Amino acid sequence: MYSCIFGGIVTDEAAMVIPMDDHMVHRGHGVFDTAAIMDGYLYELDQHLDRIIRSSSMAKIVLPFDRETIRRILIQTVKASKCRKGSLRYWISAGPGDFQLSPSGCHQPALYAIVIEDQSLFDSKGIKVVTSSIPIKPPQFATMKSVNYLPNVLSKMEAEEKGAYAAIWLDADGFVAEGPNMNVAFVTKEKELLMPNFDKILSGCTAKRVLALAEGLLRDGKLYGIRVDNMSVEEGKRADEMMLIGSGVLVRPVVQWDEQVIGDGKEGPISQTLLNYIIEDMKSGPSSVRVPVPY
Ligand SMILES: Cc1ncc(COP(=O)(O)O)c(C=O)c1O
Repeated sequence: MYSCIFGGIVTDEAAMVIPMDDHMVHRGHGVFDTAAIMDGYLYELDQHLDRIIRSSSMAKIVLPFDRETIRRILIQTVKASKCRKGSLRYWISAGPGDFQLSPSGCHQPALYAIVIEDQSLFDSKGIKVVTSSIPIKPPQFATMKSVNYLPNVLSKMEAEEKGAYAAIWLDADGFVAEGPNMNVAFVTKEKELLMPNFDKILSGCTAKRVLALAEGLLRDGKLYGIRVDNMSVEEGKRADEMMLIGSGVLVRPVVQWDEQVIGDGKEGPISQTLLNYIIEDMKSGPSSVRVPVPY
């Protein structure tokens, strides 16, 4: 773990702590992001770094260091952990202060980072989702990755209580939005890859990468179009394929949404191909998405 409170990296679990008076702990005034570690490379580190910097600015938190320094610290933390497969999660907070609501007593913003080892393989088995009854965050909060994940946690718990993997949010106008820690996409009957607009949800790094990689399916004639647009629940439920997309799930086929079986109820071929594309990209993609860790 890296902590700017210590000014360095610790490998003793007992020292992996953050101060109670940090504004992120007692008021939720912090932002975070996660990048996957695959075969000793950080996947889409720069894209995730851009996003935490955007989130930080939306949360009115001044960066504790410049971008290059944060990037160097993150890479050094993975190096110190010796982890080659898992994830790197990092937080920027308003920092320690005086336990007040105002951050005016927090004199120095903070950076924390932790490396989580995970050797498990990515699962491509089709899963079930339900529509979330927990209200979606308003766009101002849904578009930033702040530590306020209570709605996301309750939405995940609701899904688990109903025997589903995730609960899908609809936006205030009833359009399909996103899952609690992933985006959603569909393959329509017209063989179009359709993804909800990013203006009221989190702009997923994996989803954006899938949109770019899916161009290959257009060239091969397996897809006839790629569209990011408002979409209704009816449009989604009548799709040939549905998938969840995010750093945690990569691309996961959905075979049932509420009572509606999606397509023929089996994992769709486009979802499977897009999962393979992402895994290949993580293992051998260009340097713009793979940052080597100098162990
Ligand atoms: C609410 C939400 N939507 C979407 C995503 C997917 O984003 P990414 O692909 O960058 O992991 C996440 C995960 O971070 C998330 O928390």
